[in-house]
Amino acid sequence: MKALVLSAADAPLTVEELPDPVPGVGEVVVDIAAAALNHRDVWITKGKYPGIKFPAILGSDGAGWLEGRRVLLDPGFHWGEDPNAQSKAYHILGLPSHGAFATRVAIPRANVYEVPAHLNMEQAAALPLAGLTAYRALFFRAALKAGEKVLITGIGGGVALFAFQFARAAGAEVFVSSGSDEKLARALAMGAAAGVNYQTEGWAKQLKELAGGFDVIVDSAAGPGFPDLLSLLNPSGRIVLYGGTRGPIPNLNPQQIFWRQLNIMGSTMGNPTDFSNMVAFVSKHKIEPVVDSVFPLEEGQAAFERMAGGVQFGKIVLRV
Ligand SMILES: NC(=O)c1ccc[n+]([C@@H]2O[C@H](COP(=O)([O-])OP(=O)(O)OC[C@H]3O[C@@H](n4cnc5c(N)ncnc54)[C@H](OP(=O)(O)O)[C@@H]3O)[C@@H](O)[C@H]2O)c1
Repeated sequence: MKALVLSAADAPLTVEELPDPVPGVGEVVVDIAAAALNHRDVWITKGKYPGIKFPAILGSDGAGWLEGRRVLLDPGFHWGEDPNAQSKAYHILGLPSHGAFATRVAIPRANVYEVPAHLNMEQAAALPLAGLTAYRALFFRAALKAGEKVLITGIGGGVALFAFQFARAAGAEVFVSSGSDEKLARALAMGAAAGVNYQTEGWAKQLKELAGGFDVIVDSAAGPGFPDLLSLLNPSGRIVLYGGTRGPIPNLNPQQIFWRQLNIMGSTMGNPTDFSNMVAFVSKHKIEPVVDSVFPLEEGQAAFERMAGGVQFGKIVLRV
């Protein structure tokens, strides 16, 4: 098979010929048609994940063909019995096992789902990891209800855009932030109530004036702006954090949290029930993933550079 291969940390990705995968017990081999990047893949190429063995085939998101059916892949393995948190055995397609940036991948049959009829293969490949993360954060963790006011930070991101689309489909009023005015304009065209550039002075005050306050905030930045986000929550509001792009959170004022009965929640990926609910939700509401760009597998390195540069709006897809 052909695969996009990482041969060492920080090395450029190259397409190589490798032996076909051999399915283990309970596994099938899917012929990949399209795959998608997540920020995790970029962190992995920088050597930021433990347990990597070279040569590595990355890729947690894929869609393709199995037995004549169009399928997409749930990237999570061994969640375990507790719906509230994953087991110690939980891991994700693309590290340590070989991932979807290849013409073929071996995966448990239980992780294979039918592609929603309204999606093409590139849209389907864009859905799994980011859609799952957004779905669990909004509905399992924050228990979002119709009519609530929601803020999605960093709207250009893959997860953020799904959170935006899902929250709107659920009947919420959705505000956004971004480091780019162009991305804000695109979100407004997609139905955002309003948007603010987090690079501008006084962004939190602007959001307060525009929205009043938020019932739910979904964030992956953390860092020094996080206490400002807390100040934007309504009393008893919920903030769900699924990433830490801007690093540790300094200067958290405990009183701000306990006096206003705030809920700070972490969320990661999701279990098979979340995944199947997410795919059903996407089918029911005919949600189309936002695909930023499509690169042939041979130009995978350029796709990674685009993601690392942060200019994308939505998912970066590889045509395999
Ligand atoms: N826990 C999980 O299950 C899980 C799952 C997926 C991703 N993640 C993590 O979530 C983060 C985003 O992942 P992704 O795959 O969606 O990445 P992505 O598509 O590359 O998007 C990057 C995101 O970071 C935002 N951003 C960059 N600098 C920022 C800043 N200074 N302040 C606020 N936002 C900033 C961008 O917003 P703009 O471009 O609009 O400015 C965009 O939303 C990564 O850290 C990733 O590791 C976690």
